[in-house]
Order: sequence, then C-alpha cells, then structure tokens
Amino acid sequence: MGIKKVGVVGFSGVMGSGIAQLCASCGYEVIGCSRNADKNAQALERIGGFLGRAVEKGKLSEQDKMAALARIEMTTDMDLFAGCDIVIESVAENIDLKRDVFAALDRVCAPDTILASNTSSLSIIDMAMCTRRPNKVLGFHFFNPAPVMNLLEVVKTIATDEATLEAGKEFGRKLGKNVVVARDAPGYIVNSLLIPYLLNAIRMLDRGQASREDIDIAVKLGLNNPMGPLALSDFIGLDTLLFVADVIYEDSKDAQYAAPSLLKKMVTAGWLGKKSGKGFYEYK
Ligand code: CAA
Repeated sequence: MGIKKVGVVGFSGVMGSGIAQLCASCGYEVIGCSRNADKNAQALERIGGFLGRAVEKGKLSEQDKMAALARIEMTTDMDLFAGCDIVIESVAENIDLKRDVFAALDRVCAPDTILASNTSSLSIIDMAMCTRRPNKVLGFHFFNPAPVMNLLEVVKTIATDEATLEAGKEFGRKLGKNVVVARDAPGYIVNSLLIPYLLNAIRMLDRGQASREDIDIAVKLGLNNPMGPLALSDFIGLDTLLFVADVIYEDSKDAQYAAPSLLKKMVTAGWLGKKSGKGFYEYK
C-alpha cells in the first residue's frame, strides 16, 4: 500500500508541526489536528516562517513553499483522519491522553491505516492495545527539529507485523531520514545514550566542576557537537528531559537515569529551557 495522505495529531506542538512540515515538503497530503484552532493557525504560521527562510536562502522556490503549505489541511476533528494511510500521534507525553487518542484513531481510520506514535519514552504496546489493530501500530521517533535532523527511530513492538514495519521504514526513507529500528523499551537507542550524558552535565554544573559556558564550549569544540549538553537540554525542554529520565529510570532502576535534584528544582520553578524563556540560559 502506498502512503499518500498523512495525519498528524498534536499539530500545534513543535514536534507535530515539524513532522507535518516535513511530510508536506516531501509531497504528502497532510491533515494536522489539534484541539485548538488558534494554535493550529499559529503552527501553520511557524511552518510558513521556516519555509520562507528557506526561500530567502535560495534553498526552496516560492512556488514549492506555497505548494507545501497548500498540502496541509488543519482540523480540530479527528474524523477527518478517515482517509489517511498513516497517522502520527505527537500529543503531550501523557499515557492516558495517548491511549484516548489511539482508541479514537482506531474508531475513525480504515482498518489498514498504520498508527504511529512519536513518543520518546512511553510504551507503544500500551497504546497499540487500545486499538483493534495492534499489528499495525509502531513507534516513529523523530528528533527536534524534525525537518532538519536526519534520523528516524522506528520502534517495533512484540505485536507489530513485518509488513507494517517495512512500510514504516520505507515511509521514513521517503521523508529523507536514515532509519534505525529499536525495540519497544524506554529510551530506544538515542535517548538511552543521551539522557545519562545530559544528566551528567547537569551534575557537573551542580558540583561546580566548570561553568555552564565552559561545559558547553568544551563539548561543542572538543567533540564537534552542534550544541553543548546544557544548551541541548534547554532546547529539548527541561520538563521533557526530566520526564524521559524518570520513565527510563522507572523501567530500568538504573542509577544513571536518576534525575539530579537541580533538574527537578528547575522544572518546579518553571525554568523549562528555551520554550519558557529560561533554563540554563535565558532566551528572548
Ligand atoms: N524547521 C525547519 N528548518 C529548521 C528548523 C525547523 N524547525 N529549525 C532550524 N532549521 C534549519 C534552519 O533553517 C537552517 O537551515 P539551513 O542550514 O538550510 O539554512 C538549519 O536548520 C540550521 O539552523 P540555524 O542556522 O537557525 O541554527 P544552527 O545552525 O545553530 O542549527 C540546530 C540549529 C539544527 C538546532 C543545531 O543546533 C542542531 O543540530 N542542534 C542539535 C539538535 C539535536 O540534537 N536535536 C535532537 C534533540 S533530542 C530529541 O529530539 C529526542 C528526544 O526524544 C529528546
């Protein structure tokens, strides 16, 4: 089955709009759904801004920008997903919310529609079991910014069938991503390695081993990474980082995933990183 029409639930979020932008830019018809029409409009404006910058840089024609935007339809009603070949869920990291979304998608979508979750840590099989098609459910873990980062982790549960896995991998490649396959365990590949590294950088700052700037400069220049760990933590969102760390720790009881108290305090204070204007750094 060829994928032509893609649904995105959680369109108003940074990941949801990034995934929608990516799919529309790759020629797919997209239906973006969130609960709030104003936030949908803001998300489309954000996408228009990114595509507009690509036009200014000469990387995209004005015509292709307009064509990509025209491929995105917005809604607050999941019923519109009836004609989608795949739906990617990217709502907040809350398992009850995700269970409700998967149950609703199962009611609305055709029986052969693939349902994917962009969760970075929650159990895919848990969501799959809210549907009558657990064999057609998988994880699709994109990285922020989704249109830019070249990796897609495709997550196979014990129930995902081979045809769905292959269709998911093929779709990921058509989106221009390098695809890796991981099993349905918190953290998959990247976050299992990334989270201890980020938490260690926070512990290093907390014990005064180096300043925030020096920790970030050291990693940027010494390891040739685009961002240092504290800037990257702010970029990911400190609440998201804490959430993912807690989920992996809960599952593994491995001390390297135990969140440092400085991170917990910052989240309690509402210092969530770039999105709240303050984290390890301040943002306008
Ligand atoms: N949509 C489209 N394009 C975007 C974009 C977006 N949302 N955000 C940035 N870009 C584009 C810019 O337009 C620019 O494109 P060109 O090079 O074609 O001009 C390019 O990305 C670089 O952006 P900038 O020039 O503005 O800034 P930069 O050079 O500092 O790069 C960055 C920004 C791409 C974010 C870079 O710093 C980077 O790669 N950082 C690391 C990001 C990372 O590690 N992400 C993974 C986080 S972990 C995660 O997501 C998983 C999880 O579960 C927690």
